[in-house]
Amino acid sequence: MLSFLKRIHPESIPWPGSVFYNALSSTVIFQRHYEMAADDILSYCKQGSLLDVGTGPARLLLKLHQKVPQMKLVGIDSSPAMVVKAKENTAGVESIEIKEGNADKIPFDDNCFDIVVSTVSMHHWKHPVAGLNEVYRVLKTGGFALVYDLVSDTPQSILADCRREFGKFKTTLFWLHSFEEPFYSQKSFQALIQSTLFGNCQTKFLGLMYCLILKKG
Ligand SMILES: C[S@@+](CC[C@H](N)C(=O)[O-])C[C@H]1O[C@@H](n2cnc3c(N)ncnc32)[C@H](O)[C@@H]1O
Repeated sequence: MLSFLKRIHPESIPWPGSVFYNALSSTVIFQRHYEMAADDILSYCKQGSLLDVGTGPARLLLKLHQKVPQMKLVGIDSSPAMVVKAKENTAGVESIEIKEGNADKIPFDDNCFDIVVSTVSMHHWKHPVAGLNEVYRVLKTGGFALVYDLVSDTPQSILADCRREFGKFKTTLFWLHSFEEPFYSQKSFQALIQSTLFGNCQTKFLGLMYCLILKKG
């Protein structure tokens, strides 16, 4: 059943999903998660260049830009419609570059980013191992890749914190969403990492997002 759901689940978010998601991404629950992710990312690296894979409307890049305007921020997304939204949202911000590109063929040279991140995108990738190996390739040796995504087995304690912060209604919507989307479990994410060039990872929760902490070299 899970493999069937994964097969029919769209990889890139097409129009009008891009318009809907763009609106959703400006709501409080999303903004709070971009804020948390940005602070977390900057605790690993706050200079040089960053790549966001599956950047969607580029809200995370905008949050990062507010905090570290000197950092070079690059976002790629496989959906042309989403790239349009990301370019609209980041228009006029010189340190942000948006490009169309798939995780499994990242349009950049080897060893060129100080940090690579991705939020709530990996469960869409049709070739996650190839995608993570591409992340490994473009990352500088010694650099971190931080992959945040939702999981099907979010602990009750995390959901309870979410209910307290965002209310029962939004938390229940999220919980229902995790049945309809074929999210990975914590274990299946970790098993996947073992098949990649990273080989292993550390993990943690950041709000509702499960985070895989990957290091090159
Ligand atoms: C749920 S959205 C998340 C967007 C953004 N990271 C955020 O947190 O708001 C998932 C995004 O990943 C993109 N995506 C899915 N598969 C991809 C792939 N293989 N390579 C690049 N982008 C991908 C989709 O087009 C979509 O924009």
